[in-house]
Amino acid sequence: MLIRPWQEGDRALVVAAQEHLSPRTIERRFLVGSAGRLPTAYLAHVAAGPRPEWDAQVAVDDGVLCGWAEYGRYPADAPAADLAVLVADPWQRTGLASALIRALVQRMIAAGIRSIHADVAGSNAATRGLVRALAGSDPGPTYVDGLLHFAFDLAAVPLEAPPVALVAGPAFP
Ligand SMILES: CC(C)(COP(=O)(O)OP(=O)(O)OC[C@H]1O[C@@H](n2cnc3c(N)ncnc32)[C@H](O)[C@@H]1OP(=O)(O)O)[C@@H](O)C(=O)NCCC(=O)NCCS
Repeated sequence: MLIRPWQEGDRALVVAAQEHLSPRTIERRFLVGSAGRLPTAYLAHVAAGPRPEWDAQVAVDDGVLCGWAEYGRYPADAPAADLAVLVADPWQRTGLASALIRALVQRMIAAGIRSIHADVAGSNAATRGLVRALAGSDPGPTYVDGLLHFAFDLAAVPLEAPPVALVAGPAFP
């Protein structure tokens, strides 16, 4: 499993990864009905590649994109950014989201970002658990437009590698 910054050509990996994404996973990430496909506007959005407003960290195994974490901000030098992550169904609950976010956070800090925001459906227990695990405690979301809104300082995210078998192939199908 290779965890690396987004690079040119990764949009094609995202498109190909759709066969490993359940409709529920896509809907939890994008908060819209998906019919099992990623939103067309999103695919156009990532096609532009890394830029000060947007960047991502990807996990690739034998040419297959297993998950990716990304941030977006506006304006390009804003100290706060939205964070989102998606892990393809076969690789969920193996520590991948945590590893992706920890790696991305280091790059966010280097890019001048100081705080993270994320909107999550209240029914998304996995993401609530992930936020708790990363922030060390539940940062206490607010309720905005029908969604839970999390905001916390990047300094709250521990940067050390997680104690999981991220490089031990058998942990990942
Ligand atoms: C949420 C999501 C990114 C988690 O990815 P993941 O790689 O499975 O997460 P990790 O394995 O790193 O889990 C880290 C911690 O999060 C929590 N967690 C993850 N999945 C969970 C679940 N299904 N139920 C409860 N807690 C969960 C746990 O505390 C877990 O630590 P543990 O396994 O030691 O108990 C993944 O389920 C996903 O892609 N969901 C659909 C998209 C989405 O909801 N994205 C987030 C909103 S932008």
